[in-house]
Amino acid sequence: MKLIIDTDPGIDDAMAIAYAAAAPEIDLIGLTTVFGNTLIDQSSRNARFLLDKLNLTVPVSQGASWAWGRDSHRASVHVHGPEGFGDVTDIPDLGKNHHMPAAEYLVEMARCHKGQLTVCAVGPLTNIADAIALDPAFSSNLARLVIMGGAVFCRGNVTQHAEANIHNDPIAAQSVFDRPPETVLVGLDVTMQTLYQGSDFDALAKQSPDFGGFLRDISDFYLRFYQDIADQDGCGLHDSTAVIACSHEDMFETVETGVRVVQDGPSVGRTVPDPNRPAIKVCQDVDAVGVVNLFTERLSSLP
Ligand code: BDR
Ligand code: CA
Repeated sequence: MKLIIDTDPGIDDAMAIAYAAAAPEIDLIGLTTVFGNTLIDQSSRNARFLLDKLNLTVPVSQGASWAWGRDSHRASVHVHGPEGFGDVTDIPDLGKNHHMPAAEYLVEMARCHKGQLTVCAVGPLTNIADAIALDPAFSSNLARLVIMGGAVFCRGNVTQHAEANIHNDPIAAQSVFDRPPETVLVGLDVTMQTLYQGSDFDALAKQSPDFGGFLRDISDFYLRFYQDIADQDGCGLHDSTAVIACSHEDMFETVETGVRVVQDGPSVGRTVPDPNRPAIKVCQDVDAVGVVNLFTERLSSLP
């Protein structure tokens, strides 16, 4: 399966990219970056660093710096650390970004790999909305769009009602949900079931001392955040769960519904089922043990 991950790395983004690198059924053809967990330049720097560490020579195409209707963005330093990788800092600036901006690159790749390309969006939906706006054929050229975002039947994480990726660009999110390609929404409804604990990272680091060890080091910060805000032992494998849904849809139970995104007020960013909008597949349950085991098994094969 040809895959592009649209990402804001980010601790759990790093896990998802590593999963894609390790999964034999996935042909990762590139990364597109977006603001979100970090500022955009840091997202791209982190993406290039991860690819280098994973020995992958695929392009990083840089995308949006901030949300539709805004002109700045603040990084989620309290969740992902000062540079997006928790306590690990001074990430080297390796290589260069692809010459095409993300929306153009997505449109071009969807055209080149017509009907074969899956895009997994694990950050704010700004680049995806830009690509849909740029080329009317983009949606039909894609095989599928899989989104980590939303909290349709459960509580949010960034506020009581909203999930972070949708909250970071609610206008772009609505624009995608109103003109969706074939779409699967992997929200907190399922990603708060696929939890990874400190002991899981320790075990992974034994199997994969280099990359697994790096994931353990960056995740300490993330685990402390979960413990402090939610009194929860373990972090959600948010973005990895979405990448796993790209190739293992049978591990998820979905319901078809349109989705409305609340645009203002205290519930801004909330994702509400709306039968009057185009239907997409919304994940409402998951084989959480299966997903976590698959994640561990695949990542254990990394050096
Ligand atoms: C999502 O928000 C980001 O902080 C994570 O990387 C993930 O994509 C979870 O709500
Ligand atoms: Ca992310």
